[in-house]
Amino acid sequence: FQPKRLKGKRVLITAGPTTEAIDPVRVITNRSSGKTGYALASAAWEAGADVTLISGPTALETPYGVVRTVVESAQQMHDAVMSQIAHQDLFISVAAVADWRVANVSGEKLKKDGSGAPKIEFAPNPDILATVAAIPNGPWCVGFAAETENLAQYAEEKRKRKGISMLIGNLAQHVMDADHTTVSIFDDAGEHRLPKSSKQAVARQLIEAIAQRLPQVPPC
Ligand code: C5P
Repeated sequence: FQPKRLKGKRVLITAGPTTEAIDPVRVITNRSSGKTGYALASAAWEAGADVTLISGPTALETPYGVVRTVVESAQQMHDAVMSQIAHQDLFISVAAVADWRVANVSGEKLKKDGSGAPKIEFAPNPDILATVAAIPNGPWCVGFAAETENLAQYAEEKRKRKGISMLIGNLAQHVMDADHTTVSIFDDAGEHRLPKSSKQAVARQLIEAIAQRLPQVPPC
């Protein structure tokens, strides 16, 4: 018997990568399978939540019971999140959002015409999580951090910078497209490492940990 720890709660989750157009046929993207975010969406639904998933392009099917919107760019993901954010109780930001978009997107396919490599210029994308975390009386926010080293230090800095109380960190080289993952929860109590497990099992543990911390979750 699994208690419905998120019964009656509205949960918005971002997952997967974003893609940023260079020209009509080329994109820049982040490596993300979307598996962790989709597993969290399933686990939140299992826990009784009303779940909306805003996803970048992935090969995954919509999890059972979840309402999904698929987007491409970070700006589209930002706009989709902001259009859904009212009345959400919880925002879990799992997406690997591209930090920059191409400022000089070409309307036509760039050609190999002998004039050398194209000069790509970048402009910063909105930080979706920081934007949501700054909404007065907005949803309780959980962030993710995939780092290649110094996980505890970077995760803690990120938690402070984004203005959130809970951040889930992992080492990027251990999780990319894998079916198993090792994560740590960072909050005011410090680092709490979960044992290596399938992304589904980790997702259920994380939803339980989030439900314990979420203000005013009614007892089951
Ligand atoms: O800033 P950084 O990418 O290191 O932080 C990761 C966290 O911030 C993740 O939760 C990610 O979903 C979120 N993020 C975001 N918008 C961005 C960049 C990251 O929501 N533009």
